[in-house]
Amino acid sequence: MKSGANTEIEMQNISRKKITKRSDEDIQKKVETLLDKMTVPEMLGQMFLTAYDGEYAYGPEFEANNAAKLIKEGLAGSLLGPYDNRVAYQLQKLAINESRLGIPLLMANDIIHGCRTGFPINLALAGTFDPQLVEKACQIIAYETAHSGTNLTFAPMLDIVRDPRWGRVMESSGEDPYLASEMAKAYIKGYQGDDLCSYDTIGTCIKHYVAYGAAEGGRDYNTVDMSERMLRQVYLKPFAAAIEAGATMVMSSFNAFDGVPVTANRFLLRKVLRDDLGFKGVTISDYESTVEIIEHKIATNRKEAAELCLRAGLDLEIISPSYIRYLEDLIDKDSDLLVLVKEAVTRILTLKYKLGLFDNPYKNIYPNFEDYWMKPEYLQVAQAVAEQAIVLLKNNDILPLNPQEKIAFIGPFVNNRHVVGAWGGKVKNEDCVSIKDALDQTQYPYLFHPGTEIKTPNDTWLKEAIAIAKEADKIVMTFGEHEYESGEAASKTDISIPKAQMELLKAIKSLHKPIVGVVFSGRPLLLTDLEKEVDGLLYGWFLGTMSGNAIVNTLYGKNNPAARLAMSFPRVIGQIPVYYNHFNTGRPANNPNNQYTSKYLDCPNEPLYPFGYGLSYSHFRYENLELSTHTLSPGDVLEVSFSLTNQSDRNGYEVAQVYIEALAFSVTRPVAELKAFQKVYLAAHESKKITLSIPYQQFSYINLDGIDTPEARTYQIKVGGSSDNFAFIREIKTV
Ligand code: GLC
Repeated sequence: MKSGANTEIEMQNISRKKITKRSDEDIQKKVETLLDKMTVPEMLGQMFLTAYDGEYAYGPEFEANNAAKLIKEGLAGSLLGPYDNRVAYQLQKLAINESRLGIPLLMANDIIHGCRTGFPINLALAGTFDPQLVEKACQIIAYETAHSGTNLTFAPMLDIVRDPRWGRVMESSGEDPYLASEMAKAYIKGYQGDDLCSYDTIGTCIKHYVAYGAAEGGRDYNTVDMSERMLRQVYLKPFAAAIEAGATMVMSSFNAFDGVPVTANRFLLRKVLRDDLGFKGVTISDYESTVEIIEHKIATNRKEAAELCLRAGLDLEIISPSYIRYLEDLIDKDSDLLVLVKEAVTRILTLKYKLGLFDNPYKNIYPNFEDYWMKPEYLQVAQAVAEQAIVLLKNNDILPLNPQEKIAFIGPFVNNRHVVGAWGGKVKNEDCVSIKDALDQTQYPYLFHPGTEIKTPNDTWLKEAIAIAKEADKIVMTFGEHEYESGEAASKTDISIPKAQMELLKAIKSLHKPIVGVVFSGRPLLLTDLEKEVDGLLYGWFLGTMSGNAIVNTLYGKNNPAARLAMSFPRVIGQIPVYYNHFNTGRPANNPNNQYTSKYLDCPNEPLYPFGYGLSYSHFRYENLELSTHTLSPGDVLEVSFSLTNQSDRNGYEVAQVYIEALAFSVTRPVAELKAFQKVYLAAHESKKITLSIPYQQFSYINLDGIDTPEARTYQIKVGGSSDNFAFIREIKTV
C-alpha cells in the first residue's frame, strides 16, 4: 500500500456532505445493533488507542507498523493521530475497508494551545480573564485541528495548580476554581461549538481527572493526598463545569487519590464522575496509566491491572495493550466483566457516532491540510490574544517607551523564536515572531545583543552588551527559562532567574540607565531579586507565533497591558505553596501583638505578586458601590454595582473582581473566594456603571454535614482589581 497519485486523488474526492446530527435514540439503536455483531476481541479493540510511529512514514514502511496490523484485525479502534492526513487517510481506509466490521477510527491528539497557529500557553490565556477571547482562540485551534486529520483533542487541561515547581502549571488555568471553571466552559464551547458533526469542530478530553496538580513537592507524577472536601471544593470544580458544558471525554490522571490510582479508582470514576457529576461520555487512561498501577503497587501484573481498571470504570486504554491482551481471558472466567466491556464499548461507539465518524470517517482528512493553517486572520487573532496575555508587573513611569529614544534590547530572548511553550502541537518556532523580528518591522531606533545564553554566561558577549548599552537611552532586558523547562516531566527545585542572566543585569545596571525587564517562562519564576533592579517589568510567558509583535506593541504603547495573574508568584521557593484562597488558621500572621502566629521569621506570608494582580498604563477608580440586597435567600441573585472610571489619557481594560469571605462557617473556608469578574474596556476618562451578579448558590460550600450550602451566615463582599487590593468591602447575610 503506497501513498501515491491514487491516494491524493481519493483524498481530493472525500465527501464534505453535511453530516446530520443523529438523535440519541438513533445512535443507541445503531450501537446496540453493532455491538450484537461484535466478537469479544473486536469489543476490546474498541477499548484500545494505539500510536502510529513515524508521523510521515507512509509508503513501504507503512505496512510494517503494528498500528496497521492491529487496525486491520479490529484490535485498535482509536489512534494517537498522525498529523499527516495522508497517513491518517490510509489508516482510516484500513479500518473501514479491511477490518471485519469497518468501524471508523477515532484519531486524537494533544492540541493544548494551538495546532499550527500558536496561541499563548494556557496559564497566560487564563490571565486574560477573558473567556470569550479564549473561546474565539479555541474556535481557530479547533478549525485547524479539524482539518488536520484529528477528531478530538486531549484538552483542556483543568488541573488546579498551587506549586510553580510543577512544570505543567503552563497548561493549567491557575489556582482558582472559579476562573478555571469559566475557562473550562470557554474551551469546551470553543473546541466543540454547538455541532460535533461539524467539519470545523473537534471533541474534547478534559484532563487530568483529578487533582494531578496537587503532586507533593511540585514533582510530576508524585503523590497526591487531600480531603474529599478539598477535592470537591477546589479540584473537581473545573471538571464539573466542563462536563456541564458537554465535554466528550475524561482522561484519568497518573496520580493516586486516597491511596488508589485514579485510573483504577472506582470511587472517582464511577461514584463521583458518573453519579455525582453526571458524566455519560468516555473515560480514557493517561499514557500507560493503566499498567502503571503496577508501579503504584496496586497490581502485580498487567492482567490484574486490566481487571482493576475495567472494574473501576476505565473505558479506553492509551498505548499499553493490557485490555486487548488480557480481558478476553478474564471474561472467560467472569462473565460479569463482559457487561462492563459492553458498557465501555457502547460509550466509545456512541462518541464516534456523535462525532459523525460513522457518517464520514474521513471528515477531518484533507489532502491540502496546510492550506487551512495560519491564515492571516488567525495570526491577527493570535496576536490580539497574545497582547491580552501580557502582564505588567511594575512600571515606574518608564513604560510605554518613546519611539524616538534609542533602546538597547539585551538578553537571550530578544532574537529567540522559542516562544511557543511546551505542548505546542504543530506550531513551528521558525514561524514565530521574535522581539527582534518585530523591531525590524518598525522604524524604532534600537540596538541588540544577547549578552548571555539562557544559562551559560559568555564574557565576550557580556562586554559587547555593555558597549551596546552605553550607546542607548534606555535598556530592555529579557530574562527567563527555555520553553522546554516547563511542561510534562519538567518540575524544578530552582525557579529563580538563571545566574548568568542576573550577572548580565548587574553589569548593565552599573551603567545607571533605566531598565525594563521582560520575562519568558511557562511558570511563575522567582522575581524578587530582579524586580527591585528594574524600573518596569512585563511577564511575557510563552505567547506563541505572534509573541514578538505583542511584546513590542506593549513596550511602545500600541497595546495597553490588561492581563492579570492566574497564579500567585512566590517571593522565595520556601514560601511554596502560596496561593490567595488559603485558610485563616487559628493564628493568622496579621496579629502584631502575638509572636506565636503562622508566619516565617525570614519572609512575609504574602506572595511577591498575588492572584488577580496586574497593572495597566491606565489608572482606574472604583466608586459608588451598591448592593442589590444585604440579605440573600435561596434563589436570590446578589447584584454588585459600582462605577468604574479610567482616569488616564489612554484607553484600556480593567479586570474588576468580586470575592467573598465567609466570616464564620461550620468548616474553615478560604479568606477570599473569587465569585465574579468582568474585563471592562474604558476609553480615556470614560466612566461606566458595572454590575456583577452572584447567585445565592455561589456562596455555598460543603459544610460539616457534607451538604453544599451557604448556611445562614455573614459574608464580606470584596471588590477590586486584585485578590489583595479592594476598593470596597461590605457585609451581607444569607438565610
Ligand atoms: C501524556 C500526558 C497527557 C497526554 C497524553 C497523550 O503523558 O500526561 O496530558 O494527553 O500523554 O499524549
